[in-house]
Amino acid sequence: MNIIFKTITVLLLLLFIIINIVKSSSPQTPTLFKNEEIIDNSNDVKVILIMTFKRMNDFSKCLDSIISANHSSEYHLVLTQSVSMNDYKDYNLLEEILNEKIKQNSNNKEKKLFKSITHIDTESSSKQPYGNAYFAFKNLVYGMKYTVGKLFPNLQSLIIFEEDVEISKDVFEFFESSKSIMKTDKSIKFATTAFFLHTTHPQYNWLLDKPIKRKSIRNENSLSLLIPNQLNKVTLNGEIEFKVLSWLIDRSIIDQLILDFNIIENWVIENNFEDKIENKPNTSKPELLINNCDCWNHDRYLELRFKGLKFIGSQSPRCNHIPVGGFGLSSVLDDYGFPVNQQYIKSDSFVMGTEFNGEKGIWGIVKEFLPKFECPSKINCYNNVTNQYCGTLKVSTCLNVWGPLQCVPCSGRQTSTLDPQCNLDFSSCCDKDNCSAHNPFFISMPSLH
Ligand SMILES: *[C@@H]1O[C@H](CO)[C@@H](O)[C@H](O)[C@H]1NC(C)=O
Ligand SMILES: *[C@@H]1O[C@H](CO)[C@@H](O)[C@H](O)[C@H]1NC(C)=O
Ligand SMILES: *[C@@H]1O[C@H](CO)[C@@H](O)[C@H](O)[C@H]1NC(C)=O
Ligand SMILES: *[C@@H]1O[C@H](CO)[C@@H](O)[C@H](O)[C@H]1NC(C)=O
Repeated sequence: MNIIFKTITVLLLLLFIIINIVKSSSPQTPTLFKNEEIIDNSNDVKVILIMTFKRMNDFSKCLDSIISANHSSEYHLVLTQSVSMNDYKDYNLLEEILNEKIKQNSNNKEKKLFKSITHIDTESSSKQPYGNAYFAFKNLVYGMKYTVGKLFPNLQSLIIFEEDVEISKDVFEFFESSKSIMKTDKSIKFATTAFFLHTTHPQYNWLLDKPIKRKSIRNENSLSLLIPNQLNKVTLNGEIEFKVLSWLIDRSIIDQLILDFNIIENWVIENNFEDKIENKPNTSKPELLINNCDCWNHDRYLELRFKGLKFIGSQSPRCNHIPVGGFGLSSVLDDYGFPVNQQYIKSDSFVMGTEFNGEKGIWGIVKEFLPKFECPSKINCYNNVTNQYCGTLKVSTCLNVWGPLQCVPCSGRQTSTLDPQCNLDFSSCCDKDNCSAHNPFFISMPSLH
């Protein structure tokens, strides 16, 4: 009896040990890219942080675009990934993607992809398929905290990408140029590769802006309206201007955000609020959020929390959402309308353009005057001797926000290139080639030029 009992005990013990060995040899969190110690404590170290979640197809393309951008190998890479409900599927997928890129690059003896790669997970209890604003905010701040707290203690500024962006080849030239401007102008604390002045609505509601945005200029020609080597200094004024798709943040703001988020997170924990986050005005929120944006979005929070501070904006967009497989705003058609600038500019060739000091955003102005405004699909022909209206050409027009506000041919062509068409279509009224083409909508008001 005693022997049987002992045998069973030993067998159970063995079983327990075996189970634990199997368990520990397939840990839930792979530690392949998990650096735990200081990697570089110099203050000119260059680091990229990517906020990731579940859009792994987009992430793969995003990484390709970063790798093919010039100078990317001078950077350390940190990936912060929100892991919801303990489901590590996408976390593991991300490491597979990383390993694949490293393998593809293994023939390149001179150049490693990045100086180092670190991948961390941040806990989320969001059951929504694409998470919520609080956990996205948390993922960002935890990523920053880990980056400066553990890996790069003397880091002076950090470049941050979302997982679903494509960037221009010269994006790091832009960031280098911005950094050197920030060294001498201490009022500038951020830089962004895309900015847009577009709404006065207190909550970020992209649905509200869609009708106008959809009609704004967005094609290859439209880029010619922008100036690739021009930077603008812009004051954060609480409108939606500052795109957090691909941006740079100063260390002092990182430290402040970490402190702020501590307060926000404590409130959430104390109030047992993780499952109750409601991203609407006048719902329960920590004081700090109510006083700034009455929302949980980190981008809105940044704009209002740091109102009055300045950022450098790239006038030509150097980033965009990956056009396929995205979610929500990820469709280029719903985006701010311009393709990524691919005219390569070196860091020492940028020049400062106009400075914007918190004027009302263009979309805000337009909407006040014309709430349902959309550019019509027409160009009008007038006899420019008699001023007679001769007829209309069917041409789709888009709002040019970079000149005096007017609807211009979406093709980006000058309106006057349609003069011959007017004269051809309305020859009798135009009286031997005296017609000129006119934009259907024009208002003269302060604009970006
Ligand atoms: C990429 O950077 C290197 C090193 O500064 C430079 O020599 C090269 O011209 C850059 N590429 C382009 C397309 O300008
Ligand atoms: C939220 O509350 C403020 C102050 O009570 C009020 O002015 C505002 O209209 C409310 N907003 C909404 C969307 O209910
Ligand atoms: C345009 O109008 C002027 C003045 O009426 C007229 O003399 C001329 O013949 C018209 N056509 C062209 C091609 O100038
Ligand atoms: C009238 O329009 C034609 C183009 O059709 C242009 O060549 C001409 O200069 C214009 N004349 C005036 C007086 O604006």
